[in-house]
Amino acid sequence: MSQSPAPAASDRPYFQARDLHAYYGQSYIVQGVGFEIREGEILALLGRNGAGKTSTLRAIARLDSPQLQRGEVWLNGQALHTMRAHQAARLGVALVPEDRRIISGLTVQQNLQLARIAPPLGWTLEEVYELFPRLGERKSQEGTTLSGGEQQMLAIARALVRDVKLLLLDEPYEGLAPVIVQEIERTLRKVRDLGMTAVIVEQNAIAALTLADRAVILDMGEVVFDGSAKEVLENEDLRHEYLAV
Ligand SMILES: Nc1ncnc2c1ncn2[C@@H]1O[C@H](COP(=O)(O)OP(=O)(O)O)[C@@H](O)[C@H]1O
Ligand SMILES: [Mg+2]
Repeated sequence: MSQSPAPAASDRPYFQARDLHAYYGQSYIVQGVGFEIREGEILALLGRNGAGKTSTLRAIARLDSPQLQRGEVWLNGQALHTMRAHQAARLGVALVPEDRRIISGLTVQQNLQLARIAPPLGWTLEEVYELFPRLGERKSQEGTTLSGGEQQMLAIARALVRDVKLLLLDEPYEGLAPVIVQEIERTLRKVRDLGMTAVIVEQNAIAALTLADRAVILDMGEVVFDGSAKEVLENEDLRHEYLAV
């Protein structure tokens, strides 16, 4: 073992977003956002509609819009801010977008197989079907004919069959019935307990905070709170001010 004074790996943040500034054309939207995540930690990224949550996730995943004009994104010592989306994806950044993007004309199984066409690979289809029995039961059904909740499960499963290092979930519970939300919550708790590092964006702040270790609240493109999820759950004033719950 090295005797160097460098911090132990477990003390070093696994993920860092540093002073992100991102634009849609001339519109300055992400205004200096920064936060860190340790390996195996789940971060709830919260804030009202239009606060900049989706834009922040997209900038981290290195999509072309919004355009990241300043700031750094680091994952396990790798500089994502120098990369395009496909390179970040290859390093294990998986964005599960709000609209789920299930590919039409393909069955559940084919959607998953398509996600597995190139290494590095993660979970096998058997493991996915064990986690999401509903997907196993419907593996021959066309993906776009699934219910909203099942499509969300498929979108998450499609991320897990890759070798995910950072899972970015954008409103996974949106538009779903409470019983389905509970089912997806159970699944995400299992994924968390297996050591996944993740960011969850949710309007259902209580559900996100229950799953997460830490919380960052955005308001008008800036971080207004960074602390433990428990702190936000216990602080009604903070929730009223920034989350409307
Ligand atoms: N494609 C876009 N072009 C221009 N402005 C956008 C675009 N997408 C989002 N915005 C604006 O950026 C701001 C933040 O949006 P978004 O990141 O989607 O917020 P949230 O996910 O927190 O609801 C909003 O004011 C929204 O209108
Ligand atoms: Mg959004």
